[in-house]
Amino acid sequence: MLLPKKTTISLIKCDVGSLAGHHVVPKPLFKIAEKNMENAAAQGIINNYFVFNAGDDLELLMLHEKGEQNPIVHKLAWNTFKEAADKALDLKLYGAGQDLLKSAFSGNVCGMGPGVAEMEIEERGADPIVVFAADKTSAGSFNYPLFRMFADPMNTAGLVIDPHMLCGFKFDVVDTIENKVITLKCPEETYELLALIGTVGRYAVSRIRRADDDLICASSSVSKLSLIAGKYVGKDDPVMITRAQHGLPAVGEILAPFMQTYFVMGWMRGSHWGPLMPVGLKDSRCTAFDGPPRIVALGLQVSNGRIASDDEGKPMIADLFDDPAFALAREEAVKEGNTLRRMGEFEPARLGPEEMEYTTIQTVLKKLDKRFTTLKGQE
Ligand code: F6R
Ligand code: MG
Ligand code: MG
Repeated sequence: MLLPKKTTISLIKCDVGSLAGHHVVPKPLFKIAEKNMENAAAQGIINNYFVFNAGDDLELLMLHEKGEQNPIVHKLAWNTFKEAADKALDLKLYGAGQDLLKSAFSGNVCGMGPGVAEMEIEERGADPIVVFAADKTSAGSFNYPLFRMFADPMNTAGLVIDPHMLCGFKFDVVDTIENKVITLKCPEETYELLALIGTVGRYAVSRIRRADDDLICASSSVSKLSLIAGKYVGKDDPVMITRAQHGLPAVGEILAPFMQTYFVMGWMRGSHWGPLMPVGLKDSRCTAFDGPPRIVALGLQVSNGRIASDDEGKPMIADLFDDPAFALAREEAVKEGNTLRRMGEFEPARLGPEEMEYTTIQTVLKKLDKRFTTLKGQE
């Protein structure tokens, strides 16, 4: 039997070092990524690619036919990050090799530091994809928009109006502390889903499928750098891939949750709440208080195993947040960020104690430990 041809979308990212603190990926590192991707495409390892950045994270978007967690594709990403990290070291850039937590590559990059979102699809007649990449935030930060896109009829009109979406969607939720996963079906289990994914520091939506035919429609990275390293080594800065239209949320419904800002964990030293700011690629760089946390959204069409390309063979990419429709969200993010910053080191601007467990504040607290004395009358 002839199996249907499948296309894999791999988005693999890593902070390999950046310019002026944790601000932005500079040109020389982009050049290395571009060169490696170009060579890999020439050798037929991948079909085509797009290299971009989310703040200080280098993002490799690759299309190929090798399936998810493919060792050749993952090795290509790993070697590219290694080479870029060496260059960052040469240039004395900041945080060179920050996310390369393990030294030897062993088959795939999952659990080694880089973040991964992958999706293998059987191409539909036309397959619109939106990929997201965020900086200065963590894995569970996509729970809220994913819920709104695939389970909230107040966001996604298609859940009410499109007969192909009435069946609902199935959410895979990962417990990042206990390394377990559960599948919950919406609308039936909406409340149970919210009970879990509202705890964004622990639970993260990893995949979403359409309920009646299991069509894959979202995939996001769920790795937590602090849990891999056992200490604070920078934030996870997650990535995700969503699939749109024709029985799935429209591109506009996928983008609608970002018309307002919302709060995410991971601003400054991975220790503060911050408002997520949707930006175009030109503003994909973190400044104020190392932020505010930012997210970019790129739209593309998958076409015969590739990102649909123009006459010169250049992949066509839509920089979706580079749009005045998100100006209000950006303004809100600045205003609400200011309110939080006025609070300095007081909660809720700073994360709660459980989330501070993997930050450098622990060393500070340890120093104070032996100076505590028992309260009088409580001996
Ligand atoms: C990096 C990040 C930054 C750093 C901060 C302190 O991912 O979120 O906010 O945590 O700039 O960095 P170090 O400790 O390297 O001086
Ligand atoms: Mg960094
Ligand atoms: Mg980063």
